Amino acid sequence: MTSPRTSTAAILLHTLLRVDVQTGSQTYPIYIEYGLTAQLGRLIESSGYAASRQFFVSSPLVWKFHGRALAKAIPKTETILLPDGEKHKQLATASRAYESLIKLEADRGAGIIAVGGGVIGDMAGFVAATYLRGIKLIQVPTTLLAQVDSSVGGKVGVNHPLGKNLIGAFHQPSLVAIDPALLETLPRREFRAGLYEVIKYGMTSSRDLFDRIDRELRKVYAGHPDRWKLFRQDVGHQETPEMRAEIVAFLKQNL
Ligand SMILES: NC(=O)c1ccc[n+]([C@@H]2O[C@H](COP(=O)([O-])OP(=O)(O)OC[C@H]3O[C@@H](n4cnc5c(N)ncnc54)[C@H](O)[C@@H]3O)[C@@H](O)[C@H]2O)c1
Repeated sequence: MTSPRTSTAAILLHTLLRVDVQTGSQTYPIYIEYGLTAQLGRLIESSGYAASRQFFVSSPLVWKFHGRALAKAIPKTETILLPDGEKHKQLATASRAYESLIKLEADRGAGIIAVGGGVIGDMAGFVAATYLRGIKLIQVPTTLLAQVDSSVGGKVGVNHPLGKNLIGAFHQPSLVAIDPALLETLPRREFRAGLYEVIKYGMTSSRDLFDRIDRELRKVYAGHPDRWKLFRQDVGHQETPEMRAEIVAFLKQNL
């Protein structure tokens, strides 16, 4: 007999919007749902992606806004906080994460749950790629740019004094959880930075999407709960899963 907890998880998995990303060696899911964070622990468990010990890697600011909800959603997960401005995206900061993991005796069964914008996602991903030659990674992106771009694709890394993103690796996440509700605390400037990426995608790859963004721009900021449904037709019509995920994440939050 299934427990109420298991069956709730099964219903949850069934109703979530899911986009599978196929890489050379594996397939991983992107789950997208407004308010998904509250269900994240059950989602990870029921998808079979839970590590034996899980570590949140986030930044003080992101954690101030969303740490309580995440810690409640995935109990018994230890937290490592790193500074997240672009200037901190460097080996010295990654090294602080290694130090914490070593002191906490994280072994090869451990996994990192990256909670933040592109800087935290890239840096925590790099730590996951390199600590003990690689441990599991789950991405929980909290900026629009990270939700539509950097959390998907497996590119992780840090900057070098001589150039951006010069030190890095490919390390695919086992799961990406996109909750547009996390963007509600995002400063407008950061929101726009992500929006430019989506508009760029519309310009280079989808005339139809671009035209509709142009037409509906006011609604982007108006916040009607059903606004993303207007654009649901885009899902499934893009060339790659990454592009579909990009569009879905954007549409659910903005239109
Ligand atoms: N790996 C890839 O494929 C890829 C692709 C594109 C960009 N990137 C990288 O992404 C980085 C930029 O990412 P970004 O634009 O997300 O910037 P960011 O990670 O620096 O975040 C911007 C700011 O927003 C804050 N923040 C994040 N989430 C928040 C939230 N929910 N509420 C309030 N504040 C929040 C952060 O603390 C930070 O101050 C660059 O380093 C770039 O190289 C990587």
